Amino acid sequence: MSEHDRRGNRDDIGRVALFGLGGTIASLPTEDSSAGVVPSVEASTLILSVPGLESVAHVESRTLRQMASANFSFADLIEISDAIRDAFASGVDGVVVTQGTDNIEETAFAFDLLVDDERPVVVTGAMRNPSLPGADGPANVRAAVAVAVSPHARGLGSLVVMNDEIHAARFVRKMHASSLSAFASPQCGPIGVVVEDRAHFYTRVEPLAMARPKGDVAPVALVRCALADDGRMVSALAGLGYRGLVVEGFGGGHVPEPMVEPLSELLLTMPIVLASRTGAGVVLESTYGFAGSEIDLCNRGLTSAGALDGLKARVALSLALASTDNRAEAEARFRDVVKTVG
Ligand code: SIN
Repeated sequence: MSEHDRRGNRDDIGRVALFGLGGTIASLPTEDSSAGVVPSVEASTLILSVPGLESVAHVESRTLRQMASANFSFADLIEISDAIRDAFASGVDGVVVTQGTDNIEETAFAFDLLVDDERPVVVTGAMRNPSLPGADGPANVRAAVAVAVSPHARGLGSLVVMNDEIHAARFVRKMHASSLSAFASPQCGPIGVVVEDRAHFYTRVEPLAMARPKGDVAPVALVRCALADDGRMVSALAGLGYRGLVVEGFGGGHVPEPMVEPLSELLLTMPIVLASRTGAGVVLESTYGFAGSEIDLCNRGLTSAGALDGLKARVALSLALASTDNRAEAEARFRDVVKTVG
């Protein structure tokens, strides 16, 4: 994989390591133009396509992956987080990761939990590939680099920068299949913006980190409640080798009554986290008392995801389970993350 430097033109600007992982931002048509675009642009070429980058930072680039984000595994994310730690150990002021946008909301949150450093990890991508008019990759890279060197971005964990908005990794969601403004943070809005190469923050979030995974990250299932779900999918999970489950319940954390017994059975073998399928707000604790309500489920032993949505709760539970062999300890580590998120 290639490594490349783009030296800034001043001595008073910061140093950024940029890791390219593929995705739309690095995708171009192949010889058969009807076959669609595929990731192929090296990180070194990507930074050369960004006008004025040298006035923002010294950027050292490296292509770590050339793939669609749909194919990332937790093993990839752990390896990439090791490369991020190495870059911090070499003294850079911040790290930028460019990747496919499809699951940035999960990968950026995984970096939040895997990288324990006050310097920022800024994840970005593009909604339009470089062959399209108005491709947004270069502007997103320049904004992400501006955030990565900002002293104000320290202590905020991982950030996602798209469309000149700065989102906390724990809250950001991809809300649209193709719009340039596809990213939003329904809990609180973006925590800042980038204007004229400067990061402006409106609010701050607490740093998060979790103990490192000790081995492979075992699979955690995600089940979304739907109208009249009879719970058969939950029952089927018992024999499938999952180590945990996240249930996205209705509203404040409710499931249909026929799902309650299957969940209770499954709890005997694995931790189960209760999130809200709404994607915003906080799972309730003490409002509803019917069978399948948040009070009923938490009394049975489900763990609340708090303000984390189902996708983020799944990332946190997966990494918590991978960090210890002790189920109670993993559940406690998950709850610590939920508490810090607020
Ligand atoms: C991907 O996520 O790898 C493809 C789509 C994108 O980058 O927006």
